[in-house]
Amino acid sequence: MHLNAFLMGVGHHEAAWRHPSTEPRRITDIRHYQDLARTAERGKLDSLFLADGLALWGNARHNALGGLEPLTLLAALATVTDHIGLIATVSTTYNEPFHVARKLASLDHISGGRAGWNIVTSAGEAEAANFGVTRPSHGVRYHRAEEFLQVAINLWDSWSEDAVVADRRAGVFADTGKIRPLDHEGTHFRVRGPLNVQRPPQGRPLLVQAGSSEDGKEFAARFAEAVFTAQQTLPDAQEFYADLKARLHPYGREPHELKILPGASPIIGSTEREALRLERDLEELIIPAYGVQQLSNIFGVDLSDHPLDGPLPADLTQNPDGQQSRQRLVLDLARREGLSIGQLIKRLAGGRGHRVVAGTPEQIADHLQEWFEYGGADGFNIMPPLLPGGLADFVDYVVPELQIRGLFRKEYESRTLRGHYGLEAA
Ligand SMILES: Cc1cc2nc3c(=O)[nH]c(=O)nc-3n(C[C@H](O)[C@H](O)[C@H](O)COP(=O)(O)O)c2cc1C
Repeated sequence: MHLNAFLMGVGHHEAAWRHPSTEPRRITDIRHYQDLARTAERGKLDSLFLADGLALWGNARHNALGGLEPLTLLAALATVTDHIGLIATVSTTYNEPFHVARKLASLDHISGGRAGWNIVTSAGEAEAANFGVTRPSHGVRYHRAEEFLQVAINLWDSWSEDAVVADRRAGVFADTGKIRPLDHEGTHFRVRGPLNVQRPPQGRPLLVQAGSSEDGKEFAARFAEAVFTAQQTLPDAQEFYADLKARLHPYGREPHELKILPGASPIIGSTEREALRLERDLEELIIPAYGVQQLSNIFGVDLSDHPLDGPLPADLTQNPDGQQSRQRLVLDLARREGLSIGQLIKRLAGGRGHRVVAGTPEQIADHLQEWFEYGGADGFNIMPPLLPGGLADFVDYVVPELQIRGLFRKEYESRTLRGHYGLEAA
């Protein structure tokens, strides 16, 4: 089983910052993240991951927002850890491939082969507004992402592994025959190359992706080595898992070359009652107006005029240029369980659509084991509701339970992120 720690401010629960166990001012404190990284590494987790958006998402009046930029932060985490993988979210819509390939190659060198890239196409309209453009359509964003990836890969490959000879006596630092330009001319980019950073230790960073639309799944099948996904039920997870694995073959890839990691937000108690009490305590701290705004953002529709005790409007449909898969998940959840807007907000506050599991360490391990053994997951994207406490509890109580069951490593067996996920250097 593979485990990734999804770090987010002082916790994934929307109300985490109001809980007495957190310190919301620490979201810009590097020591907070360094402590979290060391904790995750103590648990032998494969990797840690930072999400990112290119706009101030959410309403800072009611949530602890305004944290740190992932690549900068991960460089600082690389220096206090030795094994754990470091995955940054970087957009292909509002960046240039040369910049991104260079920064990720640098992080891979700094960390000794532990860099990963969560490739996102930036679904938000607020992000477009920070770059003076209107949001490109879903199809255009994914089309650009494909060319972006191809260019980035070619830039990392522009230095052969043995290009640097550093022969001081002969006065030859590099064999320039092994540093090749790209001369790429495509629809979105013209890039001469070569990259101005030597070939990264892993060849290229671990490529991670998180979109679950048709475009997103095809993109993942072609490029991704790990996929983050939000699934509410085991049948949905199994369907997604089988669908995505089946898409690999046409690209000449084997099922084990892509790891599927659904999100799971564990609310851990020493007894089930204690876990449920923590879940309730967090629910009581939710600010309904904030939840309605988050829900409105998912659909790109203002829902603030609708009563909390009523259902979602019957005519609410998916906005095709937004986050397609997340809109579908929320609509399905609300309709399947007949939830009012107020109830839906509570259900989403914990994991924004990811599965929330409250229970003892054994119960949480049971849940993870079931999804893992019944074809729903290769591992999990662990989203602690509270940080640092929720991560420490997971590492101290759930990880040992998984280890006893023979489901999770007791020691690192590799020094690179690709190695942790059972992949060869590229
Ligand atoms: C676990 C997870 C983490 C994500 N993190 C980010 C992120 O940090 N930044 C971002 O812009 N989108 C993020 N996304 C959104 C996806 O990249 C994608 O836009 C979304 O799932 C909708 O894609 P689709 O339209 O292909 O379904 C994340 C999605 C998941 C499931």
